[in-house]
This record gives sequence, C-alpha cells and structure tokens, in this order.
Amino acid sequence: MPRLLFAACVLGFLPLACTAQNPAGSEKPAVAGEAAPAPTTKVTYNACNVDGPYIALTFDDGPHGTNTPRLLDMLKQRGVKATFFMVGECAVEYPQIVKRIVSEGHEVASHSWKHLQLTRMSDETLRQDLQKAHDAIASAGGVAPKIMRPPYGAFTARQQRWAHGEFGYKCILWDVDPLDWKYRNAAHVESEILKRTTNGSIILTHDIHKSTIDAMPGTIDGLLAKGFKFLTVSDLIAKDRPAAPKPKATPGTQVTKDGSGAKPESPASATAPATGAAPVAESTGGR
Ligand code: NI
Repeated sequence: MPRLLFAACVLGFLPLACTAQNPAGSEKPAVAGEAAPAPTTKVTYNACNVDGPYIALTFDDGPHGTNTPRLLDMLKQRGVKATFFMVGECAVEYPQIVKRIVSEGHEVASHSWKHLQLTRMSDETLRQDLQKAHDAIASAGGVAPKIMRPPYGAFTARQQRWAHGEFGYKCILWDVDPLDWKYRNAAHVESEILKRTTNGSIILTHDIHKSTIDAMPGTIDGLLAKGFKFLTVSDLIAKDRPAAPKPKATPGTQVTKDGSGAKPESPASATAPATGAAPVAESTGGR
C-alpha cells in the first residue's frame, strides 16, 4: 500500500514546474522507531494546544507559477494568513512569488532543497541540503525561515533535534490531512478539512495542485464561518501551552471524554504521534 501511494505521489509531482525531485521507493515515517532521550525543548509539533479557535493553514511543495498567485489572491480577499513550506529549488525559480508571500504577511518555511528523503542523508549532506533551502528562501523573500517540514514528514527524532540546534528550526508536521495530492478533488479536500479541523490544528495541503486551490474558497469560508482564526504556524506555536494531564483511570471506573477539545501533547520527538493523526507509514507518500 505505501508503495502504491508513493507511486501516486510521484505521478502527482510530474506537472511541477520546478525541478523538485522525489526519491525512489517508499519510506517509513520519520518520527517513528528511533529510541532517543526526550528533548528538553519542544521542537516538533503536529498541532498546538491553544486557548481559542486558532488554526494554521499550510501549503507545501511550491511556490507554483500559477497556482500560488491564485491562492494568494484568495487569501488576500479574505484577510487570511497562511504558511508556505517551500522547496528551495522552487523558491529560486519563483523569487517574485516568494517576495509576494512575505509582503502579504504569510510565513515562509523550509521544505528542504529538492524534496528528497532526508532520513537517508548523512548529517553533512543534510546540512548542505537545508542550508541551500534556507539561503534560497531567505534570498528570495528577505526573511529567513524559522520552521521546517521534512518531505513526507520523514525526519528522525535525532535529526529533529539536530536541525533545531543547527538552524533553530521547529519541525512542523500536521494533524489535518485531506490527502489533496492523492484525490485531486476540491470537494473532498473541503469536506475533509471542515470535518477534521479543531482548535490548534495544523492543516496540510499543497499549493502545486489546481484542485487544492479550487477547494480553498469554500474551505476558508467554511472555517471562518465556524469561527476559526487563521495564524501563521509560528504565531500558532507561540500560543501553544502544555496540555493538561489526562485523567487517570482507576480500576473499575470508566474515564469519559471531557469534551474539552484539548489535544494530547504533540508527539514531537522520538516516538510515533500519540494520536495517530499525523504522519503514518501508509500516508507519507505524497508529501
Ligand atoms: Ni512535500
């Protein structure tokens, strides 16, 4: 199954105007399987625990020559801020779009240099890849990225801490994934996002797909109608607070859902996501 999804992903990237390449073969999610001591600083987020209806809408793999400007028009019309996890090569190809993203108040973020599988890289190769992306985005937009999202969500726990130490990056994953790269259906994207978004959500989409952009007016208007407020990812994680401890079950009693909407502490680090909502092996293909 993962291989099949990955094939769909590769096909999905073919129309890309820029030259980002996808690695051969499927992979396991980065965040799983590596034993490591718990970091003292939270460096990875799937979602945030916030006191209010704040969310972050994110777009990966661009900029795209036509889809991204069209998206920016939609965001501007609605006064909505988003975050763009850019591929460094694409930032080099479309510097004017990167400038526009920055000038209109959105956040620029790194999605690596050319969308390779980062977990297979040595530290030195990884350093060069991330540095090239960092410099390309900073050069094009005039603002250096503070956060990153690894392609496919694939980044080991050790790499997450390493990238934080080397670049100051927080590693941003997601908790809402409409699989826009797979279905290429605007109605599906809209309904999935409207169904799954909760306070503190980080929504994953891709601004390289026309169908995703087609979904945005209805999606954004629907989220606004529900009362959600759009923040950049950095502004959202600035509002993150420690999750309240879960009530302990005692033998013979049943713990009921409290309905508070509080999310489990983001898994960040070394182990698989606590909720299973963010990257899982079967769905890492298209990112
Ligand atoms: Ni991606």
